[in-house]
Amino acid sequence: MTDSKEIQFSKKRTWSHDLPISYLMQQGVENPGVLSLAAGLVDQNSLPVSITKSAFDSLFSDPGSARESLQYGTTAGSLSLRKLLLTHLTNLEQKSAEELGMTVDNFIVTTGSQQYLSLLGEVLLDPGDICLVAAPTYFVFLGVLQGLGARIISVETDESGMRMDSLDATLESLEAQGQLNRVKLIYLVSDYENPSGISLSIERRKQVVEVAQKWSKQHRIHILEDLAYRELCYDGPVLPSIRSFDQTGETVILTQTFSKSFAPGLRVGFGVASKRVCEAISDKKGNDDFGSTNMSQHILANALRENLYYDHVEYLRSVYREKRDCMLDAAEMYFSKLKDVHWIHPGGGLYVWMTLPDSIETGFQSSLFQKAIHEDKVMYVPGELCYAYDHWLGCNEQPAIQKNHMRLTFGVQNTQGIQEGMKRLANAVKSYL
Ligand SMILES: Cc1ncc(COP(=O)(O)O)c(C=O)c1O
Repeated sequence: MTDSKEIQFSKKRTWSHDLPISYLMQQGVENPGVLSLAAGLVDQNSLPVSITKSAFDSLFSDPGSARESLQYGTTAGSLSLRKLLLTHLTNLEQKSAEELGMTVDNFIVTTGSQQYLSLLGEVLLDPGDICLVAAPTYFVFLGVLQGLGARIISVETDESGMRMDSLDATLESLEAQGQLNRVKLIYLVSDYENPSGISLSIERRKQVVEVAQKWSKQHRIHILEDLAYRELCYDGPVLPSIRSFDQTGETVILTQTFSKSFAPGLRVGFGVASKRVCEAISDKKGNDDFGSTNMSQHILANALRENLYYDHVEYLRSVYREKRDCMLDAAEMYFSKLKDVHWIHPGGGLYVWMTLPDSIETGFQSSLFQKAIHEDKVMYVPGELCYAYDHWLGCNEQPAIQKNHMRLTFGVQNTQGIQEGMKRLANAVKSYL
């Protein structure tokens, strides 16, 4: 006998449903033989097996350190790891901790940077509060915002990232509508954005801090800078963060991860924020899990301390550079003769953003997606998932959701798989031109 009494889920539950990520994973499982240019996994073969083993062996060669890693940790994360993170960040920024205005107390270690994004959303956003995002942007964070009942408003983007004139104009218009007091966050993936591969120009990194400060009239409008792909740069040096232009450290909250540059299985990410924001995140995290996996933190600390991490990142850059070039070459080979098809050459990250003619839709229900998956046996992420929809207004204002893009990743497949996947995809697209 089943008891069919109604379940009264919380409002929050009803704001998170039909997640596109679950649909994508399901399609992958239900359609074996499909070459995925969609999955956001990292390259399997270059995962740091021997480095992790030697970090683990070194940790367990001493019963004291072994026991420490097997014990609960602290909510903010291991102090020795946070000290190493501070050094890591100052090296990336090429500025001292004093110049950046940060100490270990500004750092919180989280279970991937995804947890930091989610905790921050929880402590800053009430239902109806506003977060401004780039169009397009990281669709999993759009889901987090939606799950919190936040209003998500898109800001126009060009080849240098979010447009500052559009951001300023959006804030001006929100003030005119009496909504400025609801604006809490500006979310930016400054390096090699997921999905577009675009980086915010250095000039705009400075400007966005000024814009956020200018519009922080009654309360602070924070910038949430997501640097997930920061270290996966293939054509030049690591770029200075938006945070490095915020001398007080009060406006920008930065988050980074070791998922892309080391191993997502360790689930180690971190964030840097002002003391007041850290306190709020720490209180929320205390309720959620009172600390991320201690063992992972010790392993990562060991890899950082012994410089094994840095050699690995160098190696990874060469692996991904080759795969990125392979995807771009394949795009040239199979798509360059197709009218009105173009794509962005990313300087880093894991994605190539491809645009089809306006008339070709790429969404889950589109005939292109269905043909690609069932006949051509290839999968991509529909670009429309990466555009915000304003659930509060029941529509999306400008910029409109664009339905003719595909996010392609060169992370998972080897070069043969990338070539074959691109060939299959071009085949699918051709039948709609
Ligand atoms: C832009 C961006 N931010 C954050 C994350 C979260 O990664 P993790 O939780 O593994 O650190 C991802 C993962 O794909 C991402 O693409």
